[in-house]
Amino acid sequence: MTLWFMTSNAGKVAEAKEYFSHLGITVEQFEFEAIEPQADDIEIVALSKIEQAIPHLPNPSDQLLVEDAGLFVGALEGFPGVYSSYSLETIGLHGILKLMEHLQSEDPVMDGKLRNAEFRAVAALYQNGQTIVAEGVCPGRIAHQLDGEEGFGFDPIFIPADLDENGNALQAGEIGVTSTHGATFGGISLEEKQAYSHRRRALTSLVSKLDRLG
Ligand code: IMP
Repeated sequence: MTLWFMTSNAGKVAEAKEYFSHLGITVEQFEFEAIEPQADDIEIVALSKIEQAIPHLPNPSDQLLVEDAGLFVGALEGFPGVYSSYSLETIGLHGILKLMEHLQSEDPVMDGKLRNAEFRAVAALYQNGQTIVAEGVCPGRIAHQLDGEEGFGFDPIFIPADLDENGNALQAGEIGVTSTHGATFGGISLEEKQAYSHRRRALTSLVSKLDRLG
């Protein structure tokens, strides 16, 4: 089975391919320039993109996946959020770090709270005339400086929260069985990122919704 993944982001394609390969599903990149609506909700953005792309599918029976994500920083009231792409292109990673310069503490728990942030992803799958939507969240914090060269986008400034034995995220400062030991997503491999990833969580939720539909 081939799944068309509509994105121009090679990093996202690599993560989706890795995820779906374990399910025996082949992912192919679908290049289509959708107009991004001005909305403060990434689900609205993902659904709009899927609607725009459906008429351009090679076959009407094909499956189409759209996934939209953003970085939401607590101290910045959710910024950059739906403006993540634009912010990355304009103020960049250094700009985000600059906005947060005054937010730091010697106490690691307090520091994690001051710099808390989360990645959110919404995955929408179109098949047989129906669209199914699922969300995934990855809590964590913003690093004090850039770290690592893996991944893409905000990966070099985002440190995911540790996970407990069930894969659930812990509070800032809590040590879990799964930990990057302070490394950002930019400092770990794609396979390691999957344990924490908002994208992996959204896709897992999507697949379980599909299973329930039979
Ligand atoms: P998009 O609109 O879903 O493509 O993503 C919005 C912005 O967030 C883009 O600049 C991406 O590079 C960034 N982004 C999305 N997902 C991730 C991620 O997993 N890690 C780092 N940056 C991401």
